[in-house]
Amino acid sequence: MDNNNQKISGFNLSHLELNHPTQRILRAALQKKNHSSFNPETVFWNATFFSLDRVKYFQEATPEQQQKILTIANRDILEEIYWVEQAGVGYMAKMVTLSETFEERLLYGLFAADEATHLGAISDFFSHPPVFADDAFLGYLSSLLVSSDKLLLITLMQVVLEGWGMSHYRSLANNCQDISLKKVLQNFLESESRHHALGVTQLRSYDGYSQESLEAIHDTLTYFLYMVQIGPQRLLKAIEQGLGYLSINDKIKILEELQTELSSNTRLKLLQSLMMGTVPTSILQSLEEQGSFHAYGATQCLQ
Ligand SMILES: [Fe+2]
Ligand SMILES: [Fe+2]
Repeated sequence: MDNNNQKISGFNLSHLELNHPTQRILRAALQKKNHSSFNPETVFWNATFFSLDRVKYFQEATPEQQQKILTIANRDILEEIYWVEQAGVGYMAKMVTLSETFEERLLYGLFAADEATHLGAISDFFSHPPVFADDAFLGYLSSLLVSSDKLLLITLMQVVLEGWGMSHYRSLANNCQDISLKKVLQNFLESESRHHALGVTQLRSYDGYSQESLEAIHDTLTYFLYMVQIGPQRLLKAIEQGLGYLSINDKIKILEELQTELSSNTRLKLLQSLMMGTVPTSILQSLEEQGSFHAYGATQCLQ
């Protein structure tokens, strides 16, 4: 991914040394006492949370393999939060400069601080700062953030992602086995719902989308829904990394045991309800007609 694409998302930012004087100012601003570091094998979410207890290959795996799969799956979730919050800081800061009213500018300024607080809080749960690896969804998100189409940005970030984020963070918090991370995630919820509410309010009071915006929003939502339609690909990868090679038939079996179609359909219904009444009807109709709200079956997920 080229650097220009990461300008807003901040995915390529470097880190200062731990003893750099700036770190002390940052810790004071974040009201943190010391730099904390977590054991990379800490299991915050257990096998049941990932529905791995339904997967035969997981049940039959050795304790070491099970631990490896769980460690990877846990790290994937934490890293996703880290990158989404990282992108959130840049997004909110960009929206400060795109604000058209005094009130809007104040809100986005406050929201940028919320996202920075979230990022600072989640950073505590890593033994080392994550390094951005090519991830299809995050790469796409990063490239979209350079767009100057405000309607597209608000739809994707505040209506869809933050709306989605609320139920995602709630479920992560409810099922988290570590009390400190649980509290951190619960604290995210209130601000994320405010961020989402502003996006919804702004889009509802807006009419007069350009044809270009309509098309860009349609294409972005199509891709975003597709990422949900194809099911738990990252988890499948984690299982493969833990067990070694998996054939296509193994993968189909695992996806069936994970009930990919059922759980993706639940997610797609939630996303559809977030978009209803906010995203222009013409876009919603088109997404419906092209089948974007229907999950793929296990075999289709692998094509
Ligand atoms: Fe956030
Ligand atoms: Fe947010």
